[in-house]
Amino acid sequence: MIPGMPGDSPVYLNGQFLRADEAKISVFDRGFIFGDGIYEVVPAYGRKPFRLDGHLARLARSLAALRIASPFDRAGWEHLVGQLIERSPTPTCIVYLQVTRGVAKRDHGFPLEPVPPTVFGMVSVFNPPSAKQREQGLAVVTIPDERWLHCEIKSTSLLGNVLAKQQAVDAGVDEVLQFRDGALTEGASSNIWVVSGGKLLAPPKDNRILEGIRYGLMEELAAEAGIAFEARRISREEVAAADEIMLSSATKEVLPVVSVDGKPVGAGKPGPVYAALRAGYDARIAAL
Ligand code: PDD
Repeated sequence: MIPGMPGDSPVYLNGQFLRADEAKISVFDRGFIFGDGIYEVVPAYGRKPFRLDGHLARLARSLAALRIASPFDRAGWEHLVGQLIERSPTPTCIVYLQVTRGVAKRDHGFPLEPVPPTVFGMVSVFNPPSAKQREQGLAVVTIPDERWLHCEIKSTSLLGNVLAKQQAVDAGVDEVLQFRDGALTEGASSNIWVVSGGKLLAPPKDNRILEGIRYGLMEELAAEAGIAFEARRISREEVAAADEIMLSSATKEVLPVVSVDGKPVGAGKPGPVYAALRAGYDARIAAL
């Protein structure tokens, strides 16, 4: 039994709903052999998915980038997400979707004869960030971004992200800030936001970051709160001098970063821009 994922956890595999301990994939699955697949992580509150349209649009983009034909149309994906949420033991849950290129003889090139993709889904308990995390904030360390140049694809090939996150774990902090060519990219599993002179900054949406579903949401929340936003290159110096830093992801929502490499960010506690965006995020959840 895996802690937090009991054997009877509901999963979906290739057309069937099963218990997690009954679901099996082939050792020749290209997801297993090559990490040749994509995934999505969709949070749901009170059995309602949050920003599902954005997640399904990104799922379609990731599949297109890998040239895998989508196994479902939009309505089919929505139905699957709904079915997983319905089976969740808790109303607030995380839906995970994964599609791989399927099962074929090991060969780096795509299978010559098309094979059906492997479609997997699971749902797990979601404990949103605690009051302590919201109030006390997170600590991060800076590291070089050593990942590939297609970070915009939500690929299951996550070795770069895994090794980056482990550096945070080894340093006893919550997340990393990655830098490529002297510019901030993102965390190991989150987007990063910097406040400088009252303005909210984020690295541009390009191939160096995954465009989080919260990226667009943060832009909306900033506009609603009257906070100026700019997507542009952010230097190491700007990060070191930031008034506030925060991160966003499906599972971390939006949380303040109060320490970078052991030094306090701004006043060393969550700031007013975070408070405004956090309030907006909470309001969106409450309005679901
Ligand atoms: N990760 N950047 C990276 C590298 C990520 O892995 C994630 C999310 C994000 C934020 O994306 P979103 O706002 O859509 O969650 C940015 C998920 C949660 C994961 O891999 O578990």
